[in-house]
Amino acid sequence: MQVATTIEEIRQCVSQARAAGRKVGLVPTMGALHVGHVSLMEAAAARCECVVVSLFVNPTQFGPNEDFDNYPKPFEADVAICERHGVEAVFAPSAAEMYPRENLTWVNVERITEPLCGRSRPIHFRGVTTVCTKLFNIVRPDVAVFGQKDAQQAIVIRRMAADLNMPLEIVVSPTVRESDGLAVSSRNRYLDPQQRRDATALYRSLETCRESIRRGATNVAEIRGQMLDILHAVPGLEVEYVSFVDGESLADLERIQGRVLIAVAARLGPARLIDNILVDTTTL
Ligand code: PAF
Repeated sequence: MQVATTIEEIRQCVSQARAAGRKVGLVPTMGALHVGHVSLMEAAAARCECVVVSLFVNPTQFGPNEDFDNYPKPFEADVAICERHGVEAVFAPSAAEMYPRENLTWVNVERITEPLCGRSRPIHFRGVTTVCTKLFNIVRPDVAVFGQKDAQQAIVIRRMAADLNMPLEIVVSPTVRESDGLAVSSRNRYLDPQQRRDATALYRSLETCRESIRRGATNVAEIRGQMLDILHAVPGLEVEYVSFVDGESLADLERIQGRVLIAVAARLGPARLIDNILVDTTTL
């Protein structure tokens, strides 16, 4: 496995694979890899002969009071995980390699970046779409894989790739959960044991929601009320949003109809946690 730190190195490595007629799959990550990332590598490997994982904690997607400085960077462990899972190349650039000068060019997806996480993280998605565009231009993958756990991110990137005719397929891979339902996340490591137990409230609220919809409930205000009861029962858990939106336009819904994204964000101690489910009433 090659570990490339420069754009030139990763381009050379990928162009060799491409010249040999192999499809290239990119898994963009910020490192601190876990089983969720491994499932993205597997999804890439199922579609492509050459899997590239990028490890880059992207400064432009963090707000001034966010966890950029504390974001975990277990570089050796990350490289070992990639090696164990058949990754052909890791791209781990420095910030200076990715942003060698003041960045004046931004990729900005409108409207669907405003609700949900966009409300509390106003520059976040601009940073994500800009760095993903740069990574796509550097690696030129046939396929790029993202996790459903960051549902809004996946929807925004898919829209960006479609609007800008980017020549690649965006694959969204299901959320991986711990045995008690908690969505696996690099930020779970910020939780102490009590907070770790309490964090399952997000999943429990979403499962209650899914069950209510399965039983025929369609009134969003009612279902949201049930979810808030579960979340508010956890001392110290601060709900940021419980949103019911259309799965593509992210427009707010009052009734459950069609493809609905139900997304939750909450703060618990030092961690900001997000989780979601997609419900399609046409296939219930
Ligand atoms: O999901 C992430 O880890 C990041 O937002 C991404 C897609 C790697 C861009 O920095």
